[in-house]
Amino acid sequence: MKNPWREVPLDQYERHMAEQKVYQLQELNRLMERQLNGYPVNSVAILGVAGGNGLEHIEADQYESVVGVDINDEYLNACWRRYPKLQSCLKLICADLRQPEISLPQVDLVIANLVLEYIGIGCFFHCLDTIRPRLVSCVVQQGQKENVVSPSPYVQELQRVEEIYQDIDPTGLVARMREAGWVVMLREEIPMPNGKRLIRLDFHLRQQQ
Ligand SMILES: C[S@@+](CC[C@H](N)C(=O)[O-])C[C@H]1O[C@@H](n2cnc3c(N)ncnc32)[C@H](O)[C@@H]1O
Repeated sequence: MKNPWREVPLDQYERHMAEQKVYQLQELNRLMERQLNGYPVNSVAILGVAGGNGLEHIEADQYESVVGVDINDEYLNACWRRYPKLQSCLKLICADLRQPEISLPQVDLVIANLVLEYIGIGCFFHCLDTIRPRLVSCVVQQGQKENVVSPSPYVQELQRVEEIYQDIDPTGLVARMREAGWVVMLREEIPMPNGKRLIRLDFHLRQQQ
């Protein structure tokens, strides 16, 4: 089956996310600013980077390497056009994060916002195994199971992504991360206008004894 994310036009996705009743583009932008500037790291990978919402918060010389991964190459083309100031450090990779043979560059920090719902925790762990970061910051959404894609004039374009959506329970995610050697160091919950909640969870690797 062709991944439905390959068929969602970026402007439809972004307009949907920016709708007043959805408001996730704006909130995710603020979250990205804090995720990108919250830790002393040289390199970052953003899984499911879409059109690069929030990358404007990176200074040109802040990172040695900024890796953006997405399954939709048109989204990545938009990232490239939008952020000329990052062209010396930006590496964009068009790949399916669910592929068992995926191999990604090693970085210090992985950011994964609203992408675990489409790749699942098992594939996420596989990505972490290949990237070997020391920090992970992710955002998952909670609430309104009947409306995975919130109502908006653009919902029709996005409806098909529901087919591959899976709910991620934050408590379960923390437990699985703990088993894999990760310690949660930040938990932030952001209520959204449509009744959903965005849950940010940051982790660091447990120190070896
Ligand atoms: C809900 S959007 C989140 C985008 C962005 N992180 C944000 O917070 O606005 C999910 C993103 O993950 C990408 N994606 C979904 N499944 C993927 C997969 N299997 N491999 C790579 N990217 C994927 C989609 O193309 C889309 O850009």
